[in-house]
Order: sequence, then structure tokens, then C-alpha cells
Amino acid sequence: MNYPIWIVPGIGGPWVIGIIAIIHIFLSHFAVGGGAFLALIEWIAYKRNDERIYTYVKSHSRFFILVTTVAGAATGVAIWFSISLVSPDGTGSLIQSFTLAWALEYLFFVAELATAFAYYYSWDKISKEKHLLLAKWYFFMSVMTLAVINGILTFMLTPGKWLDSHYWLHGVLNETYLPSLFIRLFIMFAIAGMYGLVTATRIKDEDLRVYLVKFCSKWLLPVFFLGPIVTLWYLSQVPQVTLETVFTGIQSSGVGNFSVLARALYLSLVLSGTVLLFAFFGPYLNPKGFTFKIALLFMACGLATTGTTEWMREMLRKPYVVYGYMYSNGIRKSQVEKLRQDGFLTDAKWANVNTDPTSSKQCGEKLFQYQCMACHTVDGYRSIKKLIGDRDQESIVSFLKMMDPKNDENPYKGIMPPFAGNEAETKMLAEYLASLKPKDTTQ
Ligand code: HEC
Repeated sequence: MNYPIWIVPGIGGPWVIGIIAIIHIFLSHFAVGGGAFLALIEWIAYKRNDERIYTYVKSHSRFFILVTTVAGAATGVAIWFSISLVSPDGTGSLIQSFTLAWALEYLFFVAELATAFAYYYSWDKISKEKHLLLAKWYFFMSVMTLAVINGILTFMLTPGKWLDSHYWLHGVLNETYLPSLFIRLFIMFAIAGMYGLVTATRIKDEDLRVYLVKFCSKWLLPVFFLGPIVTLWYLSQVPQVTLETVFTGIQSSGVGNFSVLARALYLSLVLSGTVLLFAFFGPYLNPKGFTFKIALLFMACGLATTGTTEWMREMLRKPYVVYGYMYSNGIRKSQVEKLRQDGFLTDAKWANVNTDPTSSKQCGEKLFQYQCMACHTVDGYRSIKKLIGDRDQESIVSFLKMMDPKNDENPYKGIMPPFAGNEAETKMLAEYLASLKPKDTTQ
């Protein structure tokens, strides 16, 4: 609340993060899984002393290095830009709590890039043993970047003991750390296999192509056999209230407002199933007929699955950015009571309403921007205009009052943070929201 607001019309700020993050997640998972893939296949080439496989790895590694070092790194930086604009309080708190973890992450990342370049530019220049060693080092460094960032990502959903101690290692090594690490590794192998399919299908030599296509399809096995078990382990560790929200979503899907999570869950399951069948009947059973175009399509399916799964994981955390600690709009849970008594705007330095006398409707608009725009837009994604519907000012006031942290009956408590403002501010926000209705503008 002590930062300016960045307004993105239409899709809203969070989707800017979402779009960049989905691309980045795909690329970074690919960077780690691909590292394992390169190391293993180079080892096979080395053991068999097979020049054909070497030629394949070499050409495979060119695009791999380009994508992971350039696009992967650029989208990673883009995430920082977007999260600090959309969610400055959350970003600030992550930086402060995990300074050491970020520093570690940075070291491993730089080491990863350095080994990637050394690996790529030393093809045919150093002995085969040394080159293979570089491939293994690259894999190790990239896994270490995952090991660190996974701690911070999982922390946001299950901060665990950190909530009391505020000790960074308690935050990093939390309840979902291990299951999440395993799921991510399996997904990484799957993505590496998918990309392997794209390059393997371009090989002219049929024997080699069939061998490699089958080899690549096996990289999807861990996610399909072990993935479900680890997912159950993961789900057993997430806050149970969150799961209730998912199941309420399933019961009322298509009707209630709670269906968002359920929709994400269905989509993620359907897409994962599709990928499984695709992999089994395609490259595994029929490696000869598996073409480059199908491999690209397969990869697109993989991207969609990753996207929806990550989206769902993000939804699980709502209405928090750090579960049980800070809400999506940057307000700390512990601040809410005070803000409800003393008011929100008096302390919101950048809202500029306390110095300069403004109309109550303008104050209401500021309240909306600071407290609701983390999830709603005016008339784009999750449009507040639509959601307000026919409610007038009075019924909006009672709606906002119902969003009280002490109200256990509040059906939105798993989705929306409580309104953090005093009596007068509740009226101002309601006045602004009521003014959005079309009939008001014609009056
Ligand atoms: C953490 C995200 C989040 C925040 C912050 C948030 N909302 Fe929501 N809100 C949601 C979601 C999710 C829904 C369900 C939307 C749907 O079903 O498409 C919703 C629904 C609504 C609805 C419709 C409810 C109904 O049943 O008709 C209203 C009205 C609403 N929000 C108002 C607000 C206001 C006002 C604020 C700010 C004080 C706010 N929201 C802040 C996530 C949020």
C-alpha cells in the first residue's frame, strides 16, 4: 500500500505476470530437464562410441543453449519487472526474507550459464571425457537453481514455521518443498523428452531416428507413473481449507463463483491425460510414423498442460500472495484489523487522497485500485462491472461488510481478502462501484 499502482486495462496486471511466467516456467523446466537429457544422451554416445548420436547431440545442443540462455534468462528478468510492478509489497517481502536464497540462486544461475557456454563452445575442442563432464556439471548447476527457487515458490503456499520464526531456512524447507521438487523434476524430464522428439524427428537416418524417438518418449514415464503419487503427497501438505475450496468448486462447477479452481483442475487433468495418450500411441508405440509436425503439436500440448497446472497452483494460494501472511493485494493479514478501524487511505502515501481534498467517489476508486485490482479489472478480466451486476450502493455496502475477517460465514473467505477499510471508506468504495453501472452514467 506504500507504492504507486500500475493499472493494466483489459487483462489486468496479474495476467501480465501469468503470461510471462508460463513461458518462463516452460523454458526453465526445459533448461533443467534438457541438461539431464544432454548428459545422458552424450553418455550413451560415449559408451557406444557412436558418431551419429554425437552429431545429433551437437545439433540438438545449439538450439537448446540459445533458448535457455537467451529466452530463459530474458523471461526470468521479465518476471522480476512484472512482479515488482504488479505486486510491490509481495516482491519486497520476498526480497527481504530471502536475500541469502536469492544470492545463492544467482550464483548457481551464473555458474549454469557459464557451463552452458563452455559446453557449447568446446564441442570437438576438448576430449570426449571432459566434454561429457561439462554436460554433467551443467545438469548439476541447473538442478541447484531449481532446488533454491523451489523453496521460495513453495514457501508462498506453505510458509509453515516461517510464519512464527521468520527464519529464511524455515521458509525454504517447508512442507511442500520435497513433493514439489519431485513433481517439477518429472515435468522437466517430460519437457526435455518432448523437445528431444522435435529434434529427433528431423533425423534422416531411419534407424537412428526410430531409436531416438523411442528413447525420447521414455522421458515422459516418470511424470505419468510417479507424478500422481507425488501429487497426492503434495496435496496432503497444502492448507486443507484450500482443498475445500477446490472441492466446493467441483460440486458447483458451472454454476457458482467457485468454479474457477475446478475448471483449472479439470483442464489440467484432461490435458495431462491427452499428453499421456499422445505419448503412448505416438512416439512410444509408433516411432516410425511420428513426424516433426506432430512433435511440434505435442510440444504445444505440453505447454498448455504446464500453463494450466501452474495457473491452478497459483489459484490454490488465493486470496494470499504468501499464505496466511500477506493477501494478494499486498495487505498483511495482521494489518487488517487496524486498517478497518483507522482507515486505509490515511496511510496509503501514493494514493494522494489525504493531502488533496478529493471527492468520495475518487477515494472509492483508489480503494478499488489498491484492494481489488490484484484480481479484478474494471471491465476486462474478472470485470467488477459485471460482477457487481445490479447491486446498488446499499447492497454493495452490505456485501463489503460481509467480507469481514471475523465473519466465518463469509463464503468468499477462500477467494477474496477481507475489505480493509473503515466505515466511511466502505461507503466510498460502494459509491464508486455503484457508479460503474451503465444506468448511472446516463443519469
Ligand atoms: C485475491 C483475489 C481477489 C481480490 C483481491 C478481490 N476479489 Fe472479488 N472476486 C475474486 C474471485 C476469484 C471472484 C469470483 C469470480 C468469478 O466467479 O468469476 C470474485 C468475485 C467478486 C464479486 C462477485 C461476487 C458474487 O457472488 O456476485 C464481487 C462483487 C467482488 N468480487 C468484489 C470485490 C471487491 C469490491 C474487492 C476489493 C475490496 C475484491 N472483490 C477483491 C477474487 C478477488
